[in-house]
Formats: sequence, structure tokens, C-alpha cells
Amino acid sequence: MITFEGAAKLYPDGTVAVDGLDLTVETGRTTVFVGPSGSGKTTSLRMINRMVEPTGGAVLIDGEDVRRRDPAVLRRSIGYVIQQAGLFPHRTVRDNIATVPLLLGWGRARARARAAELMELVGLEPAQARRYPHQLSGGQQQRVGVARALAADPPILLMDEPFSAVDPVVRASLQDELLRLQRELHKTVVFVTHDIDEAVRLGDRIAVFRPGGRLAQYDTPERLLADPRDAFVESFVGYDRGVRRLSFFPARDLSLRGEAVFGAGTGAGGALAAVRESGEPWALVVSADRQPLGWASAEQLGRAPADTALGELDLAPYGHTFDVGTDSLRAALDAAVLSPAGRAVGVDAEGRVLGVVSQDDLGTALWSVTE
Ligand SMILES: Nc1ncnc2c1ncn2[C@@H]1O[C@H](COP(=O)(O)OP(=O)(O)OP(=O)(O)O)[C@@H](O)[C@H]1O
Ligand SMILES: [Mg+2]
Repeated sequence: MITFEGAAKLYPDGTVAVDGLDLTVETGRTTVFVGPSGSGKTTSLRMINRMVEPTGGAVLIDGEDVRRRDPAVLRRSIGYVIQQAGLFPHRTVRDNIATVPLLLGWGRARARARAAELMELVGLEPAQARRYPHQLSGGQQQRVGVARALAADPPILLMDEPFSAVDPVVRASLQDELLRLQRELHKTVVFVTHDIDEAVRLGDRIAVFRPGGRLAQYDTPERLLADPRDAFVESFVGYDRGVRRLSFFPARDLSLRGEAVFGAGTGAGGALAAVRESGEPWALVVSADRQPLGWASAEQLGRAPADTALGELDLAPYGHTFDVGTDSLRAALDAAVLSPAGRAVGVDAEGRVLGVVSQDDLGTALWSVTE
């Protein structure tokens, strides 16, 4: 457990970087610091490993004031990852990762073996071990940074905007990796970001900082989105927080419609009759193994000769599907909004269609869960 007790940082030029921070970071969980630029996130983070000394109050790790620890020893027990990875340019990937084990006197063979193990853990190819940082992509460099921070198996990991410098796709995959690692390793992670989506995705708890280095709210992501404490937090979490919040509700509980799902061999006439009876304006056409093929409108069915197989019609694209077992209401809503039929296609883990859900059905479900 890391405890900030009235921790403050006043710089000699009069800047109040952090102002009386009281906060407890739970062991084995991920705590995210978010807030606008200059709100004291980095300063607070660095108080934990004594890269910044507080001018008031204290920071304690498991009840002990960090000022009683030798800074060099303390830092070896705390992994630290920064934005541009901060790798040593003239050391290979392997030697970058082995830095702390070597400092701890593990010996070269053991340190390199550990580096190889970590490369696998963070998803780097063994062949990259002998490369230099400039021979890697930004995302790969960040993986090396994470591997290096984890090398000596420290209980605490501090991450200061580690994924901000990479593109959104790489960023999402690094976030996934961190979530996976954390499920395995259960480190006490303190993660700084500007990005509320990243915070919600990664954090067990989120601390929102406001300008002037003050804590605005400290809560679970669910509570932060459901109940921002004041106008500042509300504007920071974004006015689309309602939609973001849907990511906490599983799509599993939606009731899916199956009346308007037809095999590709079905005749247009039969489909039209069924569609009319169900009141659905669209028919979803699926292959023999229930993979979605596309949408046919009731109008289109009416125009086609009754014996035309649905698979021969010019179908509207089904858009993207949502996984009923694992996705959230946010994913289902997104799929429905993007679908030409205004309906989302729910699939199982193998991509087989389980049913469809309309925007109206979703509206009703959203209303009941967010009430
Ligand atoms: N060495 C220093 N001397 C004077 N002021 C400083 C110093 N280091 C940081 N500050 C100031 O302290 C405040 C908090 O800085 P900090 O780096 O903690 O913010 P941050 O929330 O991490 O911002 P960002 O999101 O831009 O990284 C800022 O106003 C900054 O200018
Ligand atoms: Mg910062």
C-alpha cells in the first residue's frame, strides 16, 4: 500500500505543484492519475520513488516513510516506465532489460536469461534481443521499457504516460498487454495519463487531479463516470460519459431477436412473409455455418421474385458484430449505430450469429441498466 499523507510540493519559484495530497494506492491493483497538463501527476508519482522530495507531508510505502529508505535501493524495488521508454541508446534490447538485475549483482548469464523471459512476457521476438533501441518501432520500445521495469520483479510499477507517444492501434494493444500482465503479476501499478478512456480501461481506481495540484475525485471508474463530483470532473471525464459508462455493462443480458435471421438458401417470398409477421423491417442473411452475410430490407424482399435465394440478393453490409459473451453494451450500441439496418449482429466466440438487437431494444436495455 502506498499512502500520500498531505503530500505537497512547493517549488522555490513559488509554483505549487502538489497541494496537500491524501490518497491511498492499494497493493496489487492499478491506480491511475489523470488530469490536465501541469496538475501535479508526474510530481506526485515521482514522490513515490524519491525522484521528487515533498516539501510538506509524506509518502509511505507499507507504512514506512520513503525518506527513511536509501533512494538507490528504493528505486531498484520500484519499476519506472516513461513516455519515450527512456532506453539506453547504446545498449542492446537485452542489456537494457537486464540493467537492474545486473546492478543487483545477478551475474550476466542469469540477467540475460531473465531478459529473454521478459521479452517473451511482453510480446517481443527473441531475434530482437540484439537490436538497439533505434532499430525498434515506438510500440516495441515501450515493450522494452515495460520489460526493463519488470526485470527485477519489483512489487511496484510506476508508469508515466508510457503509451502516449504511439498510435492508437499500438496503444490499444499495449493496454491489452498491460491488462494481461497485471492479471498474471498483480503489481501495485501507478499509471499516469491524460486520457480518460485509457484511465477507465486500465484503472481499478482513478485519481482525477485538478490544476493547482489538488485531488478532485478518487473513485472506481464506474463511480467516476456515473457520479462525477463537480463540474470540473464532469467536464474532464467528458460529456459522453453516459456512453463510456456502457462499457461496464455486459451485452450478455440483452435479449436477441432471431425471427428475422435467415439462411442464404431461403426464398425471398418466405422471408418476406416471416419478416412482415415479426414486424422487422430488415432480414439478416447468414451462411450455412451461421456467419453473417448481410442485410436485406423488407422492400427489397418484396421486389425480388419469390423464389430468389436470399444469398443472391445485393445485401447491405452487416457492419461489425459484437460478441455476446464478452462484449459490453457500448460495443453493441456502436455496432447498431454503424449498421445500415440500425441493428447490431450478436455473435458467439466463433463468429456465428446468435441474433440481432435493434436500437430500440438497446434503448430499453440501456434505460433499465443505467437507471
Ligand atoms: N523543477 C520545477 N520547478 C518549478 N516548477 C516545476 C518543476 N517541475 C514541475 N514544475 C511545475 O509543477 C507543476 C506540476 O507539474 P507536473 O509535471 O507534476 O504536472 P503533470 O500533471 O505531470 O503535467 P503533464 O500532464 O503536462 O505531464 C507544473 O506547473 C510544472 O510547471
Ligand atoms: Mg507529467
